[in-house]
Amino acid sequence: MKYAVFGASGRMGTQLAQVGRESGNVPAVGFYHKNQPKGYERISNSLDSYLVKSIDCLIDFSLPVAFKNHISFAVENNKPLVSGVTGIEETQIIELYQAAKTIPVLWSPNFSLGICLFKSFLAQCARLRNHFDFQIEEIHHTQKKDAPSGTAKYLQETLKKKLPPDYPLPEPIAIRGGGIIGEHSLRLFGKYETITIEHSARDRKLFALGALEVANWLITQQPGFYSMDDFFEKNL
Ligand SMILES: NC(=O)c1ccc[n+]([C@@H]2O[C@H](COP(=O)([O-])OP(=O)(O)OC[C@H]3O[C@@H](n4cnc5c(N)ncnc54)[C@H](OP(=O)(O)O)[C@@H]3O)[C@@H](O)[C@H]2O)c1
Repeated sequence: MKYAVFGASGRMGTQLAQVGRESGNVPAVGFYHKNQPKGYERISNSLDSYLVKSIDCLIDFSLPVAFKNHISFAVENNKPLVSGVTGIEETQIIELYQAAKTIPVLWSPNFSLGICLFKSFLAQCARLRNHFDFQIEEIHHTQKKDAPSGTAKYLQETLKKKLPPDYPLPEPIAIRGGGIIGEHSLRLFGKYETITIEHSARDRKLFALGALEVANWLITQQPGFYSMDDFFEKNL
């Protein structure tokens, strides 16, 4: 698969070029804002349609400020879009749904299998609501722009949907420190016992490989809005 990346000069964009080569995919185009990316066949700081003529998928790992432009570019060029951008407003997700009328779109705040499994445990956890208090917590490196993380919000929303509407679920706790790549936990505090479900990303390759795996699948799909659940349902 040949792909182009928005945010190619960032931490994730850099990983995407590297794991792409290692996994037999072609990092064909790296789009950037100010800093020139490495590892891409071609790079550009303007969204030039000519550059993406022969690519199979667009992958967005930039920041919310460019989210709308990147969606429009994907639609204009009729290319599938995988987006991992977090910190976006709920209204911006609607833009993805609009785009999904004409192109295949998959957005996820986390491309790891572990987080997908974590999420699937939440329905069971919610059944314990009369015996335990819940708290979601996340820890990330100090350069991370959004807090709480997109993944923490996503886990929180999923858990909320499994609980009665008036259940007093506290907001996720966000901690910033050092070079932590991404840690998420749900603690269930009972009167005499505590359960902790914890996920720890040890290498950004996890997310880059996940995004490429998803992209390879997405390019075979019809236009529509897809989630990681759709992907794992068909591929696990
Ligand atoms: N879904 C997942 O699994 C997952 C995993 C990790 C991170 N993320 C998310 O992915 C995004 C990127 O993370 P990161 O750690 O790689 O961030 P980063 O290192 O700060 O990189 C941000 C990238 O966005 C580009 N950018 C900044 N302003 C821009 C603009 N106005 N127009 C176009 N591009 C612009 C930057 O380009 P310049 O360097 O040229 O300025 C850079 O390439 C974040 O939203 C993060 O939360 C998602």
